[in-house]
Amino acid sequence: MTTLLTGIGLLASQNDELGELADAAMVIEDDLIAWVGPRSQAPAADESIDLGGRCVLPGFVDSHAHLVFAGDRAAEFAARMSGQQYSAGGIRSTVAATRAAGDDELRANLARLAAELRAAGVTTFECKSGYGLDVATEQRSVRLAAEQTSEVSFLGAHVVPAGMDRDSYLDLVCGEMLQACAPSAKWIDAFCEQGAFDVDESRRVLTAGIAAGLLPRLHANQLTAGGGVQLAVELDAASADHCTHLSAADIAALADSNTVATLLPLVEFSTRSPYPDARSLLDAGAVVALATDCNPGSGFSTSMPLAIALAVREMRMTPAEAVRAATTGGARALRRADIGELAVGKRADLVVLDAPGYIHLAYRPGVPLIHQVWISGKPG
Ligand code: NIG
Ligand code: FE
Repeated sequence: MTTLLTGIGLLASQNDELGELADAAMVIEDDLIAWVGPRSQAPAADESIDLGGRCVLPGFVDSHAHLVFAGDRAAEFAARMSGQQYSAGGIRSTVAATRAAGDDELRANLARLAAELRAAGVTTFECKSGYGLDVATEQRSVRLAAEQTSEVSFLGAHVVPAGMDRDSYLDLVCGEMLQACAPSAKWIDAFCEQGAFDVDESRRVLTAGIAAGLLPRLHANQLTAGGGVQLAVELDAASADHCTHLSAADIAALADSNTVATLLPLVEFSTRSPYPDARSLLDAGAVVALATDCNPGSGFSTSMPLAIALAVREMRMTPAEAVRAATTGGARALRRADIGELAVGKRADLVVLDAPGYIHLAYRPGVPLIHQVWISGKPG
């Protein structure tokens, strides 16, 4: 079965050879892209759809989200907007609600958020555990996440749960909990931060995860300029996430590594914090990704378009850089070569915008511009 998409006003492929094509067309065969080029040269196909001059992008790749939880923390957000500071400790109230919830409630919440992401143009998302913090609830979290995505991260090292001492908890995370969670996960993650885990503790967790066959990624430098980024680079982590407080040495280390700097501006928005220095990262040559970090505490948004608008308005990324970070950047942060760009042989995951170009994502902030989302060659 082949489908010709024609009447593409602008195709921003994110592929280095194809670049941006005006008045373009694309052929999808089953779940893959079979042809891309000027509309005038489009081959025949089984069916044809005219997109009426709309802009087409690769589907957004959200490489950082915490979607398995119960309850919300709206009151904590309101208190923050009245001057209270965000701290890692709030995680424990979501842990209590998550442990008390049944599978069906967690599954329904996750499915609702996955549907929100899709409506926001996200065609691949990562999902972390980390609101269970006991063996049974962490195992349940990664199992439920794996029902929705292949990009599952085991984040037992989110904080030390109430009522446990840190050494016994770290032994549990690196031992029984890891063994229970590894079969459903691809990634090992840790929250390397004041109030969570220090660099040596995070190294221990990531190293244990690697030994269990998982790949490392790390919450790094969110609230303080600690050693998280350096640890991520040392372990060749796919991604160092947050990067809100960076030294010049951190920027140089990221630029000289395979570790993507994943920026999460919806968190700075929702915690009223300074935004990360995307300009210095990009100018130094680091690969940058944008992701939502959707979670009930530090930022409860699934809106990749808003993340793009904030990256442009607040972080001085150009619209082209922001779209690249939300597509190929996210794919790099998940070490995926099959998604994040539109070219022959790539997965037919795409976003059709109700706009003639992608600049509108930042130019019209907060306006629902997602006309249609295709995943694996199927429109939704
Ligand atoms: O990425 N930083 C650690 N974890 C989440 C926040 C979790 C929470 O506050 O519930 C984050 O910001
Ligand atoms: Fe996070």
